[in-house]
Amino acid sequence: MNKPKNLCRVCNSIIQNIFDFGEMPIANNLMLMDNETYIKNEYKYNMKIGVCINCSSLQIINVPKKELMFNDRYAYFASESKFMKNHFTKLGSKLMKLMNKEKDYILEIGCNDGIFLKSFADNNYKHVGIDASENVVEAAKNDKINAICKFFDEKTSLEILHSYGKAKFVVITNTMHHIENCQSVAKGIETLLDEDGILVIEDPYLLDMYKIGSIEQVYAEHNFIWSLHSYKTLFEKYSIKLFDVEHFDTHGGSMRYFFSKKNLKETNIMQKYINLELNNKIFDINTFIKFQKNCKKICKELYNFVVSKSKEGKIIAGYGATAKSATTLNYSNIDQNLISCIYDSTPFKIDKFTPGSHIQIRDAKLLSKDNPDYTILFAWNHKNEIIEKEKKSKTIWVEYIPELKLTYEN
Ligand code: TMP
Ligand code: ZN
Repeated sequence: MNKPKNLCRVCNSIIQNIFDFGEMPIANNLMLMDNETYIKNEYKYNMKIGVCINCSSLQIINVPKKELMFNDRYAYFASESKFMKNHFTKLGSKLMKLMNKEKDYILEIGCNDGIFLKSFADNNYKHVGIDASENVVEAAKNDKINAICKFFDEKTSLEILHSYGKAKFVVITNTMHHIENCQSVAKGIETLLDEDGILVIEDPYLLDMYKIGSIEQVYAEHNFIWSLHSYKTLFEKYSIKLFDVEHFDTHGGSMRYFFSKKNLKETNIMQKYINLELNNKIFDINTFIKFQKNCKKICKELYNFVVSKSKEGKIIAGYGATAKSATTLNYSNIDQNLISCIYDSTPFKIDKFTPGSHIQIRDAKLLSKDNPDYTILFAWNHKNEIIEKEKKSKTIWVEYIPELKLTYEN
């Protein structure tokens, strides 16, 4: 019998208070506009999110099939950001120091273009990367990374176990929240993680998302937003215990979680965040309702700004054809009639069109030549890096999170 659709995928409780976004495209499904039939048949799904007040997990109710999101056209190449490269190289250096080069290996689930495993490959540490999107795996392999193109689950974990044995480290950065079947992944990790091993997960953090009050972290690929409490609920079922966390400002606020099969003493910082989650009422449905209201306010403010400037005849562009902005643009009804183009440096994205809103993506190098009147910073999480890179441009930067703000107005 099929499980009813509105049960929490972490703890099986009933999901509360559904927030309906209407029809949404797949956020990374960039399009070539010369294919009219394809545009007419652009895949859309009804995006609804809800929160589980038993485990605090925020999740999309009906997630599109994973093959529609992760395939040979995956548009996100993590190494595009120097800052993120540096961020993950630092984690790599810490973990390498704890590895026995002869016998240990590290497994990364969702290795993307090899942003994290690159330093392991360069220093001849045993490593395996797994990712479901063929084009990013190709990029990783071209960088001499030992990468496999597959979805990770219980079954794949047995194949990896057979070939490589148990892993000293399992690392999952910005990927666990992509995976609908979190139970199968947790079971696979239980199979593969060494008794002395450590599981490291990092992804956008629920409390930060509530604090910013923006819906951008949620799109089909980001079908979960996790917290300490919801991760604890999931992994304790598989005897994997959370013992430490580290907070970062990346991607608008991320948490790095450390788990072990051993009963390691919980750190003070972990206790601090457990209490912070309770004090911020993550189990209270009103927190979710307040969040919902704020998301609507942010989208409305941005829409009103774009419409009023467009009526004045101003040229409005965007910067960063991010997956996040797909949610904002589509929910706010901002499309190619209001935004001239979005600048981005990712070669794969240039000259394609954004999903649903069909805005052309232009090479970021052209921004300082075009100098649009306003440029909306869709990649707001890379603000410092981008503004520094584009300091020659005379455009007025528009930030819209947590509220509308014009930067460097002349
Ligand atoms: P993200 O917020 O999901 O990391 O996506 C950031 C997007 O912004 C990605 O498409 C790459 C793009 N980008 C630039 O075009 N220039 C830059 O300097 C940076 C950091 C990102
Ligand atoms: Zn739950």
